[in-house]
Amino acid sequence: MGRGNVASLTPDRIVRLDDDAVVVLDQRRLPEDVVELRCASSAAVAEAIRTLAVRGAPAIGVAAAYGLALAVARGEDPDIAYETLAASRPTAVNLRWALDEMRADPTPERARRIHEDEVERCKQMSAHATVLFEPSSKVLTHCNAGGLATGGYGTAVGAIRAAWEGGLVEHVWVDETRPLLQGARLTAWELEELGIPQTVIVDSAAASLMALGKVDCIVTGADRIAANGDSANKIGTYSLAVLARHHAIPFYVVAPTSTLDPTTADGSGIPIVERSGDEITSRFPAHNPAFDVTPAELIAAIVTEQGVHRPPYLASLPRP
Ligand code: MRU
Repeated sequence: MGRGNVASLTPDRIVRLDDDAVVVLDQRRLPEDVVELRCASSAAVAEAIRTLAVRGAPAIGVAAAYGLALAVARGEDPDIAYETLAASRPTAVNLRWALDEMRADPTPERARRIHEDEVERCKQMSAHATVLFEPSSKVLTHCNAGGLATGGYGTAVGAIRAAWEGGLVEHVWVDETRPLLQGARLTAWELEELGIPQTVIVDSAAASLMALGKVDCIVTGADRIAANGDSANKIGTYSLAVLARHHAIPFYVVAPTSTLDPTTADGSGIPIVERSGDEITSRFPAHNPAFDVTPAELIAAIVTEQGVHRPPYLASLPRP
């Protein structure tokens, strides 16, 4: 496969189930190389999730659903497949949600429906989110919550896309997103293909842009949202929310109901994946948490496919 463009990034190119494998677009190689990775067992799907070949909470839920269908078709032990897939990324609740959905009906048809539903949810929440954008908005986003992260369309990037199409977005600031550069590699690529004006910044430039009045709102995705609205997302999201409060800029989270976890009371109960320090330095000791938790009190609104939810989130968030 050669260099592609996002307009042709159909959901089945991002992740799909073939007869003998779960096939994912290898996001570790983007944007330079547009190549597929074939995962011929549930263990291979779990490894693709662990190594971020497929990534973003909704997309890994979809990949895991396909992985469980593949496991059953291959005669693997379904319980071992379930546990192996569930352990590949504990922060994202979508993963366990999708696997639980598959338990009752572990067929390719069910997995494909989960995928279609996830993309549909993205479109609905993005349409709801447009009310949050003022005309000529300068928007800042972190990590990649685009089509690549959801199996199609995207959550935070989907919202930006819908607002852009409605003539509401002037510019997007894209945090590069240390240490694996999902912003600079993936979000920037998606926005370029969509024709949305953007500039990549180092994560630490966000504060000065806010101080200069060049950011009107911040929009991110989430890996898991606790019952009280505390939201886990890519490391660095929490610092953006603190900065946003200081500069009186609204901070919004856009995520499907499959990301809601009403069984976890607040953010202190969300497990945070710790990744290898080698992603930062191979010479010195390193601490590399992949996610952080933004307290609900810093979030102006959470948008799901059911609408725009305002604080207090314990009362306003839907029960999935
Ligand atoms: O480690 P990643 O790249 O999978 O982290 C992704 C994020 O933090 C996303 O913002 C989150 O999963 C939501 S994706 C719609």
